[in-house]
Amino acid sequence: MENIHPIFDKLLTRRDKENFLSQNAKVIWFTGLSGSGKSTIAQGLEKMLFDKGYFVQVLDGDNTRTGINNNLGFSLENRTENIRRISEVSKLFVQSGIICINSFVSPTHDIRNLAKEIIGADDFIEVYVNTPLSVCELRDVKGLYKKARNGEIKGFTGIDSPFEAPIDADLEILTENQSITESVTKVFNFVLPKIHIK
Ligand code: ADX
Repeated sequence: MENIHPIFDKLLTRRDKENFLSQNAKVIWFTGLSGSGKSTIAQGLEKMLFDKGYFVQVLDGDNTRTGINNNLGFSLENRTENIRRISEVSKLFVQSGIICINSFVSPTHDIRNLAKEIIGADDFIEVYVNTPLSVCELRDVKGLYKKARNGEIKGFTGIDSPFEAPIDADLEILTENQSITESVTKVFNFVLPKIHIK
């Protein structure tokens, strides 16, 4: 019998969408302490990739903890749920062909493994923004370290809540002695071959 809706014969695949956008979709996952520079580098990378014609989206605490995750706090359980939801959302982005740049403290090995498991190891690029606690605390961009030290905030990462440094990140960025542009360029050069369609 003749198919009356030939237009629906073939479901659109991830590859169709990646081809449309001329890119391989990936999740570039930044982990590091609060104030380490993750989101600054993520935003710089987004701009640099966009300027080169890539279609990208940044997810970070600012656009997720205010919305989809606005019922979550900073207990280990809530952080795990935060990362689980972010990872599921990122997976949907990747299925749509989009390059997703995620900036989350994601403080433990288990939490990052969960993200990698949900997203899939092949699509997951882990970047450790390694800035010493002393430097983050000195910068204290949001004034949160001061509050954590005063006891106004409990369970702050690096102060009275753990940060387990990644041991097998795909890329490590040491921000202390280099400019933001240098950090962004290093990540850009690392991810380019992985997202580029020949
Ligand atoms: S995660 O641990 O669940 O991955 P996420 O990256 O979403 O954390 O949010 C971290 C940001 O929330 C920090 O950069 C900081 O601005 C803010 N914040 C507020 N309370 C805390 C806390 N107790 N520990 C860490 N970050 C906190």
